[in-house]
Amino acid sequence: MKSVQALACVHPRGRFQKLLRCARRTTIVAACAGLIALSSCAPGDNASVASGDDWRVHGGDPSSQRHSRLMDVNEKTVGQLGLAWWVDLDTDAGQEATPIMRDGTLYVISAYDVVRAVDARTGKTRWTYDPEVRAAASRSCCGPVSRGVAVEDGRVFVGALDGRLIALDSNTGKPDWQVQTIDQPHPAPVNYSITGAPRVVKGLIVIGNGGAEFGARGYVTAYDRKTGRKVWRFYTVPGKPGVKDGEISDSALAKAGSSWHGEWWRWGGGGTVWDAIEYDADLNLLYIGVGNGSPTNYGLRSEGKGDNLFLSSIVALRADTGEYVWHYQQTPGESWDYTATQNIIFADLTIAGQPRKVLMQAPKNGLFYILDRATGELISAKPFATINWTKGVDRKSGRPIVNPAAQYFRGQQPAFVMPSSGGAHNWPPMAYDPDGGLVYIPVQDMGLPFAATKDPEIRPGVYNTGTAIPGGDVMRKAELKAATRSMKGYLLAWNPVTGQAAWRREMVSSFNGGVLSTAGGLIFQGNGERKFVAYRAKNGTPLWSFDAQTGIVAPPITYRLDGVQYIAVMAGWGGAWPMLGGQMALTSGNAVGPNRLLVFRIGGKASLPRLAPRSVSAAPPPADKGTTRLIARGDGLYGQYCVRCHGIAAVSASMVPDLRRSGFLAGPELETVVLGGALAEAGMPSFQGKLTLSDLEAVRAYLIHQANRPTE
Ligand code: HEC
Repeated sequence: MKSVQALACVHPRGRFQKLLRCARRTTIVAACAGLIALSSCAPGDNASVASGDDWRVHGGDPSSQRHSRLMDVNEKTVGQLGLAWWVDLDTDAGQEATPIMRDGTLYVISAYDVVRAVDARTGKTRWTYDPEVRAAASRSCCGPVSRGVAVEDGRVFVGALDGRLIALDSNTGKPDWQVQTIDQPHPAPVNYSITGAPRVVKGLIVIGNGGAEFGARGYVTAYDRKTGRKVWRFYTVPGKPGVKDGEISDSALAKAGSSWHGEWWRWGGGGTVWDAIEYDADLNLLYIGVGNGSPTNYGLRSEGKGDNLFLSSIVALRADTGEYVWHYQQTPGESWDYTATQNIIFADLTIAGQPRKVLMQAPKNGLFYILDRATGELISAKPFATINWTKGVDRKSGRPIVNPAAQYFRGQQPAFVMPSSGGAHNWPPMAYDPDGGLVYIPVQDMGLPFAATKDPEIRPGVYNTGTAIPGGDVMRKAELKAATRSMKGYLLAWNPVTGQAAWRREMVSSFNGGVLSTAGGLIFQGNGERKFVAYRAKNGTPLWSFDAQTGIVAPPITYRLDGVQYIAVMAGWGGAWPMLGGQMALTSGNAVGPNRLLVFRIGGKASLPRLAPRSVSAAPPPADKGTTRLIARGDGLYGQYCVRCHGIAAVSASMVPDLRRSGFLAGPELETVVLGGALAEAGMPSFQGKLTLSDLEAVRAYLIHQANRPTE
């Protein structure tokens, strides 16, 4: 990270700007670590289970319940929980990862995929590995984040933003092997990235990718764990008719093909597998959560016809071969960015008097699904948030009854749809306590106006959703206000068997962290208000909280070493909501702060240094002289090219600069940065070849206009 800092600080621009930038960067800190423990082994662990006090795999144990049997920290002792130590992370770009703790070492991955091995007792960093992916940061829809590494057989497996799968020696942090997982030529403009955690499955390492906003066609690939040799690949959506991939998915996709219409392949089709991948060793089934359509607009993608398999589905594959076994599609004809990629939990539930091996998921579409994980049979689908896209699911057919008013692609008018494209529940993982029988879900209850784009041209390297979201033009004041009014974030305790809420705890911010449940009767969760909180699992009463100095989105873990239980969390505000949400995401206040790995124990006495105030330019913006037409054109271009990182209405709620406060609005620096790529290494892509000079002047006029307006 040093090199980036240096580059930005010496970059040719006015002295004032240099000072400003360097001052801004002094708030950035360095380091990291990871941790946690866990135990409850449900359906057959293929990975070796050494100590039940480690946190060995992504979901804590093979059932991915994110529930720990550890109970030294409990309702009685939690009041004495204190910070044991922390590791500074050399970025403030946001943290989403679940740490892995094995045999006394925490393995953590930070923004830009910097991996660290940290002594889980002391916080001492043993090694750091930087795959140098900063220039690839703009490939990711939602920030340069990673949700975790996998550790097995003395290797740490890393999925890098630029598409590489890298196996590191867990003792030294040096690469043993690496493969590029993105090698598929494609007719559509493809911009794949990896943000998900790789998973160890038998002798294989399985990895997916993201990029459905950029025209990707989704797939997962399994590699030999020892050598990195490709073993199988499963594409989730059909490619161009008549063209076979020569992969195991060919036969399943030959059948799925009739559920697609039009020329979807030009847009990639979507269906990326960017998060949930789970394995049941007893059934030898691998479950993949498949993402949204590309483009999101179903009218453009498939003429508004057909189910579009396997979008928005859970697909079960034979682990060794990748062969298709069954699927369940949650949102046929997906049109609202409703992914089925959210975390999947295995459980043994008694339903109608019968013991059932189930999997549970609370995906973006707002319905809580329970499926029989041997057969894929739908057991139940109950709304856990406010939804209007469907009137419910027909149990017999397993199909949702879609509300015609939500089908914006059939008309000209925007439709206000709940949940939003961010989903009622996104990637911050939920947890399940098998003893208490409750699932704990971080819910974002909100709607968003959806409208078809008026300009259905495919442009490489930028969002191609076929909708006017997140374009500027639909985000007019009234709609923005309606969306903001609808926003609610809460921690929901959900009884999966009855399909009812046990309790809910509302938050100020609508986007909050992933969840850890423990046998100590506690639920741990960080939030957008810079707090890390322990709640009583029974009723949601907050029992303890810690000022983390930054918003938290990552899920905590727990582990035990030498008889001491630790709680660990990667703290750092980032990801889609703060970046794109802009003005809306500011409801939680300014949650951006120093990113750290925070580790707690009973009697911990460490305290964080005082938070330095963030410096912003006090200089007044240039005069607002653009014509209404020019500003409107700039608004549209901003929506197309800039909004996903710099935020709705040019208001930033993330670490990405708030352009209204930029000192570059008046001068030639704007061109140096936006067309010249002067900050490309720092994650600000060059728009050379995408924007003309005259486009840039329109964007400039829009930014100056916004800078002169009061924030609403
Ligand atoms: C992929 C995310 C991304 C996109 C898309 C993006 N930016 Fe940026 N931008 C960044 C990041 C990150 C920085 C901060 C880089 C640094 O640390 O110096 C930045 C910095 C800037 C700066 C410098 C601000 C300052 O005062 O330091 C300007 C100006 C800017 N962007 C304009 C734009 C414009 C205009 C667009 C659309 C045409 C755009 N950006 C699109 C990520 C993005």
